[in-house]
Amino acid sequence: MSNKLPYQREKLLFKVENVSLSYDTREILQNINFEIYDIVRPGIVQGQVVSLIGRSGIGKTQLFKILSGFKKPNAGSVRIGVDQHLVQMGDVGIVPQDYILFNHRSIYDNLKIAVNHCSKKMSDKEKEESIGHYANEFQLTEHLRKYPMQLSGGQRQRVSIIQQVLTGNSFILLDEPFSGLDVVMKDKVIELLVKVSLSTEETTLIIVSHDIESSLAISDTAFILAKQSENKAATIKQTLDLMEMGLAWHPEIKSDPEFIDLVGKIKYMI
Ligand SMILES: Nc1ncnc2c1ncn2[C@@H]1O[C@H](COP(=O)(O)OP(=O)(O)OP(=O)(O)O)[C@@H](O)[C@H]1O
Ligand SMILES: [Mg+2]
Repeated sequence: MSNKLPYQREKLLFKVENVSLSYDTREILQNINFEIYDIVRPGIVQGQVVSLIGRSGIGKTQLFKILSGFKKPNAGSVRIGVDQHLVQMGDVGIVPQDYILFNHRSIYDNLKIAVNHCSKKMSDKEKEESIGHYANEFQLTEHLRKYPMQLSGGQRQRVSIIQQVLTGNSFILLDEPFSGLDVVMKDKVIELLVKVSLSTEETTLIIVSHDIESSLAISDTAFILAKQSENKAATIKQTLDLMEMGLAWHPEIKSDPEFIDLVGKIKYMI
């Protein structure tokens, strides 16, 4: 069923070089290297979706903090954008494992704060329309006047993702976007992320997750984060080019035998 769709790999957008992280004498991450390129598909406006997949406790959240500029690695560098400058806080929109919303403000106000940070100049009416559009698209319209504590975990997560979309940031980094969700909600989040990735050519989603199936299903590239051997730090053990494998951009990919086989193999790699 899998088939390779046409694409071109263009400009370098994100480059992680020899990143290592230790706590005292314990090395958590070692020589992390990977690159993200602008993927261009003929006739389709679509950004990039890459996943960093690894077991619980391997160092994904630590890497998330480094990639978003919140934490300095002990060695190595993270460069971003066409000009390849060193990443700084604010360059990347973040959706952390514990979604950060302002609890004393309504959902509408939380989204308003995000849209006010948008790099594009918008009139008040345009801002309102933009919030309304995303709220409707992601089934949050009836919750706009509520406060974060009055929403379910899945609803809060959707607000958190939309918040980052509204800020207009091209790079969005998500830590475990599929955890704690039921099967139906997981599919909804997958759908949402695909929609976000289709919003502009520049949009780049970086997903950090231990959920192999959900991450792979929407990625064009996946990096496997694992230990080289017992008691060693984690590194990128393998890169999977899902576009080349004919497994990228197919909505029904989860039922593809080749895809199912790949998910099974990764379970033994991590
Ligand atoms: N401040 C700290 N001091 C020392 N060790 C730490 C600190 N923060 C994290 N660690 C260690 O770093 C390792 C990686 O933690 P991290 O939270 O990145 O894992 P993870 O892959 O995100 O796990 P999960 O999938 O459960 O979220 C763990 O062994 C953790 O104990
Ligand atoms: Mg984590």
